[in-house]
Amino acid sequence: MSIARIFITGASSGIGATLARFYANQYRDGLHLGLLARRAGRLVSLAASLRELGAVVETYSTDVRDGESMQEIVRDFTGSAGGVDLVIANAGISPGEKTGKGDLEPAANVIATNLLGVFNTLVPMIPTMIEQKSGHLVAVGSVAGFFGMPGKGAYCGTKAAVKILMDSYRPVLKAHGIQVTTICPGFVESEMTANNSFPMPFIVKGPKAAKLIARAIAKGRKTYVFPWQMRLVIPLLHAMPEWVLARMVSRP
Ligand SMILES: NC(=O)c1ccc[n+]([C@@H]2O[C@H](COP(=O)([O-])OP(=O)(O)OC[C@H]3O[C@@H](n4cnc5c(N)ncnc54)[C@H](OP(=O)(O)O)[C@@H]3O)[C@@H](O)[C@H]2O)c1
Repeated sequence: MSIARIFITGASSGIGATLARFYANQYRDGLHLGLLARRAGRLVSLAASLRELGAVVETYSTDVRDGESMQEIVRDFTGSAGGVDLVIANAGISPGEKTGKGDLEPAANVIATNLLGVFNTLVPMIPTMIEQKSGHLVAVGSVAGFFGMPGKGAYCGTKAAVKILMDSYRPVLKAHGIQVTTICPGFVESEMTANNSFPMPFIVKGPKAAKLIARAIAKGRKTYVFPWQMRLVIPLLHAMPEWVLARMVSRP
């Protein structure tokens, strides 16, 4: 196979950084990787370790909420890599939303990062993929996108919206040879979950999550929920009275 050209957002920590490491180990000098996040120092040190495995690595320190900057970066990456095979829109945040206090900013920030950020990452890639007649767009949603968690309305709403966005792109882009996948993790060990005070059943370690995600992408899955236990939990949560869920997770 020719060089794999892979672009990952949210690559400075957690799932994104672990996926970058996974692909660098898989493809070695057959990989041209684009890594994007805001923390430049983290990206630079990750890139250095991945170059030791043979990968060509570009780092982009920007904010996925900035559409203009994202368009420029996509032009830069697809230009230097000579196209793009796989894009993983993974950057996301899950802070307390403080809606009970009437604050707009925290939830608006979640919506801008988790939904607009995915849109800003994937849409500028589409013309290149259409020209190539190939490519794979991936968004990281969440099991939280299948139901409303108390205190996490914006987070759950963005993750549900991301899945629907991807579902709507899939049939249109299939005609151009482009695959579309939504990855919906349950709990994964990362900076995002490190300080959660509620129970996190079936939590998965980063490297295992990266392996499962990469396998689902390679198989061209449309929507992939993991770990498998979460596929059973989702219908149970739908059947559960709201007060039980409210007791299990954080408050508004
Ligand atoms: N961990 C879980 O249990 C879990 C479960 C379901 C879904 N997810 C989803 O998985 C994805 C990755 O999360 P994670 O668990 O790996 O958490 P994480 O370690 O906190 O990673 C989040 C990544 O997103 C980047 N990011 C955040 N805001 C950004 C912005 N405005 N612009 C550019 N990059 C930004 C962060 O980098 P900078 O701060 O350097 O910008 C970081 O690299 C998220 O979409 C999350 O919602 C996670």
